[in-house]
Amino acid sequence: MEVVVVPTQAQGSELVGKAIADLLNRQPTTVLGLATGSTPLGVYDDLVRRYEAGEVSFKQAKGFALDEYVGLPADHPESYRAVIKREIADRVDFEPGSVHGPDGWADDIIEASLGYERAIDEAGGIDLQILGVGNDGHIGFNEPISSLASPTRIKTLTMQTREDNARFFDGDISQVPTHVLTQGVGTILRAKHLVLLAWGEGKAEAIKATVEGPVTSMVPSTALQLHPHATVVVDEAAASQLANAEHYKWTFAHKPAWQSI
Ligand code: F6R
Repeated sequence: MEVVVVPTQAQGSELVGKAIADLLNRQPTTVLGLATGSTPLGVYDDLVRRYEAGEVSFKQAKGFALDEYVGLPADHPESYRAVIKREIADRVDFEPGSVHGPDGWADDIIEASLGYERAIDEAGGIDLQILGVGNDGHIGFNEPISSLASPTRIKTLTMQTREDNARFFDGDISQVPTHVLTQGVGTILRAKHLVLLAWGEGKAEAIKATVEGPVTSMVPSTALQLHPHATVVVDEAAASQLANAEHYKWTFAHKPAWQSI
């Protein structure tokens, strides 16, 4: 695992945006794993800026969302399908139909889950998966005690996550769905490169557990320790509980120039 501590969220978002743009330029058919929530928004803004400057294209790329609520009206503005469309897909030149998400509206949720796994495999797998992390260490919507080998499936949100996400639903927890379809931890671990981002003091405990704690399904983000290419990009506040933060900073500052994240 590599830990990159940056002074600000803006600098971290730019660093990750550049890494994704470089990947797309090396490999235009890149398959991106797209997170929602607040954390990746600066990365999406950075990618849009690079696209508008003619530095990168998504024309041959594909995208797969991490998760989706179950039970929202199809046209709800906070469905993750709508968020991905609004925050990134419609702002760059992805071809129509090239950005996918789990079908939280399917009559047959089990078939929708299996179908999502198949669609990822048929696209050749995810090259780079962007991840945020919940205060309880969830990645995707894999809440504590999610199997570290899990595939895409239906999950129940914890009360904590529903409270955290109520800010997207007029602060009203009763409007936050109880169930979700999410890529599993096993699905996430099959991506070639995992890039987990976290900003602010509120994420410091989850980042401490993710990076320096024991691997446990009680903190699903600790599964990143099992991945051969996992990068954690955090600002100073999110890094504030890391015991070895100085070593991570020194390591990144002395990285060979040819090595990207
Ligand atoms: C979003 C997702 C979640 C969020 C996490 C953090 O697709 O899968 O794991 O990344 O809940 O949310 P924010 O970024 O809003 O703090």
